[in-house]
Amino acid sequence: MTVAPMADVPDPTRPSPALSGSIQIENVTKVYQSRGQRTVGVENINLAIEPGEFVVLIGRSGCGKSTLLRTLAGLQPPTTGRIRINEKSLYQDDGRIVPRVIGDLGFVFQDANLLPWRSVWKNIALPLEVQKVPKEKRRLRAEQLAELAGLKEFLDHLPKALSGGMRQRVAIMRALAAEPSILLMDEPFSALDAITRDELNLALQDIWLRYRKTVVLVTHSITEAAFLADRIVLLSPHPGRVQRIIPVPFERPRPLSITKSVEFQALVSELRVELGE
Ligand SMILES: Nc1ncnc2c1ncn2[C@@H]1O[C@H](COP(=O)(O)OP(=O)(O)OP(=O)(O)O)[C@@H](O)[C@H]1O
Ligand SMILES: [Mg+2]
Repeated sequence: MTVAPMADVPDPTRPSPALSGSIQIENVTKVYQSRGQRTVGVENINLAIEPGEFVVLIGRSGCGKSTLLRTLAGLQPPTTGRIRINEKSLYQDDGRIVPRVIGDLGFVFQDANLLPWRSVWKNIALPLEVQKVPKEKRRLRAEQLAELAGLKEFLDHLPKALSGGMRQRVAIMRALAAEPSILLMDEPFSALDAITRDELNLALQDIWLRYRKTVVLVTHSITEAAFLADRIVLLSPHPGRVQRIIPVPFERPRPLSITKSVEFQALVSELRVELGE
């Protein structure tokens, strides 16, 4: 998918630095207690993410990637430790979220989770409706976002009339509608076929270059991680700790053909060894 140019967005080949969207994860441990069973989700995670950075979390199944992302998303407080978003604590001392801070976060999960009875534009504009933005403004914003995602002709379609990849694009645009500074994505493309996934990787890179959101994305795909990330954070097997942080030096925008290069393949091999594959 190519992204249509828009008047009010900067040249994607010369990205402007993001001004907000920092994340500090400080000594975060999450322990689940259910039916007398105690499970450590993640243990003693420390990570500072810069505004506008693209960070990808990888690690074995069950190592705690979703745990960390849900904790970052305000869905479950850490058992110990602290998370700060744009220098402000995400959770209060009693574990409740700070509502003002949650507005800086947008989420995309594996399943697009669209409301089936609402059209594409009404799905995209949902967060704006919650914020009581007037209808004309909501429609305009949804149109802009849909155009950017190549969905302009589908504004009035229902989700059931879209392909899986299109639905996932709607979910990304919905997450961006309220202009959060941070986008959290848990395996957003894992249910898609390889070609659609490549297309959405390119589209996501484009959107990221234009808007310069901070992105934290979880994936099982090493290729996807190496293609998208500024830094790859590798979590060790259960219970997850930060095993290694690997910077990805390739220039942007990255074409898909980069995945065939010797340097890219070397990085992929290194990651496979680290993951014990
Ligand atoms: N709600 C929960 N209650 C109890 N234990 C949980 C809960 N959610 C996750 N866990 C446990 O925490 C650990 C980490 O799980 P998590 O879902 O974060 O892993 P993951 O890295 O996202 O795995 P996958 O790659 O398979 O998605 C696992 O041992 C899991 O069983
Ligand atoms: Mg998971």
